[in-house]
Amino acid sequence: MDERFFCDSHAHYDQRRFDGDREALLASMGENGVGLIINVGCDLPSSEASVALARQYDFIYAAVGSHPDDAGHVDEARLWEYRRLAGADKVVAIGEIGLDYHYEDVPREIQKRAFRAQLALAEALHLPVIVHEREAHGDALEILNDFPSVTGVFHCFSGSLELGRELVKRGWYLGFTGVITFKNARKAVEVAQWAPLNRLLVETDCPYMAPEPYRGRRSDSTMIPKMVEKIAALRGLPVETVARATLDNAKRLFSIS
Ligand code: NI
Repeated sequence: MDERFFCDSHAHYDQRRFDGDREALLASMGENGVGLIINVGCDLPSSEASVALARQYDFIYAAVGSHPDDAGHVDEARLWEYRRLAGADKVVAIGEIGLDYHYEDVPREIQKRAFRAQLALAEALHLPVIVHEREAHGDALEILNDFPSVTGVFHCFSGSLELGRELVKRGWYLGFTGVITFKNARKAVEVAQWAPLNRLLVETDCPYMAPEPYRGRRSDSTMIPKMVEKIAALRGLPVETVARATLDNAKRLFSIS
């Protein structure tokens, strides 16, 4: 049987924190059972780097887009750049895009405009989206109402059970990071326990969000089994069942054969 059944649906291997050992680390994924990684852009350089990684590694696929922190740079020219990049092989989503009202480094109106513009791009290209949403549940849902044909994943899901239910009803997937292994992760755990198995994704958001017992360290995709084990324990399922399901879900969402 193929042992590469872990999928990290949200990673940032383009980041500087991997400069010292990126190649060695990515070369070790196979022996660690990791068979699929989505490398996600946050701005133009990281989107370009994601596409380059996808070109270099057969098990890496890419998403391109601007994170809410970069929303101020999403203009017509930038949207054309993303459209061009999305035409490359193995670009499977627009992301990460969304709203972040926690730090609010960028004014809300600018975030909303960039989110809408990138949802419209995803709609035009028939691509799913990877949404970063923090403390902006209401506005995010309201904007998504205007793009009924667009679905994707709410990554590092931090919402309530009620929001989880609403998203699942609309055909969305929910992504869980190492946060679900933290002692104080009550809400995320509740949703991960409830959600239909065919709508769950696991992710590291590496280099961030390392799971227990690595909390505080740089994370990488070899830690994905910790999230899978946690979900399996919550639901009383074999680890392999959850690993398979989360891999199949990512392949389905991102149309990877
Ligand atoms: Ni991310």
